[in-house]
Amino acid sequence: MSEKQIVLIAGDGIGEEITNSARTVVDAAFAKAGVNAKWIEKKAGGAAIDAFGEPLPQDTIDACQEADAVLLGAVGGPKWDDVDPSIRPEKAILGLRKALGLFCNLRPVKIYPALREFSPLKPELVEDVDFVIVRELTGGIYFGEREEAQGEGPNEFAWDKETYARYEVERIMDVAVETARKRSGKVVSVDKANVLASSRLWRKIAKEKAEANPDISMDYYYVDNTAMQLVTNPGQFDVLVTTNLFGDILSDEGAVISGSLGLLPSASIGTGTSLYEPIHGSAPDIAGQGIANPLGTILSAAMMCRYSLDLPAVADSIEQAVTAVLDAGYRTGDMYREGFTKVNTQGMTDAVIAHLG
Ligand code: IPM
Ligand code: MG
Repeated sequence: MSEKQIVLIAGDGIGEEITNSARTVVDAAFAKAGVNAKWIEKKAGGAAIDAFGEPLPQDTIDACQEADAVLLGAVGGPKWDDVDPSIRPEKAILGLRKALGLFCNLRPVKIYPALREFSPLKPELVEDVDFVIVRELTGGIYFGEREEAQGEGPNEFAWDKETYARYEVERIMDVAVETARKRSGKVVSVDKANVLASSRLWRKIAKEKAEANPDISMDYYYVDNTAMQLVTNPGQFDVLVTTNLFGDILSDEGAVISGSLGLLPSASIGTGTSLYEPIHGSAPDIAGQGIANPLGTILSAAMMCRYSLDLPAVADSIEQAVTAVLDAGYRTGDMYREGFTKVNTQGMTDAVIAHLG
C-alpha cells in the first residue's frame, strides 16, 4: 500500500475542527483508493506561541520540508493581537511560505450552482464565474524591508518597501501561462504600472511572456480597475496573475463573490513541499462550537491530492462529493437558508464521506 506523509497544522480558532474534518474525509477517500495517509501533527501560529513562545518552531518547518504535503487550518485570533509584531501568529504563515519556497498561491474561485443565491452579486452576474487567482507569494511588500513607527508627533512615520526582481516575476508569469494553457488560455496581469516602478517592471515582463507564448492571450489591468471589474463583470476572468499584496486583496474580493468564504480552497506551490489551506481565517467567534464549515479545507485537501500526492482520481471523488452534498441541500450555518438541511461540522463531514464515489 502506498503511503503519503502529510503534515497537519490545525493552527488556531476553528483550525482544529476543520482540519479534523478534512483528515477524516481524506482517510475515507484513501481507504477506497488503497492509499495510506501518515499524518504528522505540528503546531504553528497562536498555538505555537502558547506552547513554545514562537509562532513557527523549527521542528514544524523541518517536518514540512520532509513531507509530501502540508495541510493547514488557519492561524491567528484576538488572543494574540497584542504580541510583539515579530512573533505575530501570521508570521507562521509568512515564514512557512518563505522556508518552503512557496512563491505561488493558486486560488480558484468558482460558483456552485446550488449557492448562486448566496453571492452578494446579482445571480445573472455570477453565472459564469470560474477563474483562478495566481498570486505571487514570497516577494513584494510582504517581504520587503520595513521599519515600525518611529519619531513623534505629526512626523511619526513607518515604512514598507515593495520590490520585485525579474526572476520573481518571470516564474509567477510562467505558472500563470501554464495554468491558462490548461484552461481557456486567457491571462489578465494585474498591476499599478501607472504609479509604481515595481509594477512597470512587472508589466514589462508580463509582455515579454505574452510574446513568448503566442497561444495565450494576455491583458494588462490596473488593480483599481480589476477590483471594479470583479464586481461588475466577474465572468470575463479566467486567470488573474498579480503581486503579493494585490493578490491578497483581490482574492478576498473574488472569494466572497462565490457566495461563501467558507468554501474556497487554496494551494501554495513553489520549490519545496506545497501547502494547502482554506482561504478563510480562524473565525474565533465560532471556534470550539463544532459548527464551522469544513468544505474549504476539504476542497484544499482535494487540491493536495491532485497537485502533490499524484492522486487525481481521489481529488475528483472528493470534489464531486462536495458538489453532491451541496446539491442534496446540506448546509452549515454560514450557508443556511430555510428549507435546507442544517448540519454542523461533523454532519457535513459525514455527508461528504457518504457521497464519496
Ligand atoms: C492570506 C492571509 C495572509 C496573507 C495573512 C494571514 C498573513 O490574509 O493568506 O490571504 O495576507 O497572505
Ligand atoms: Mg488574505
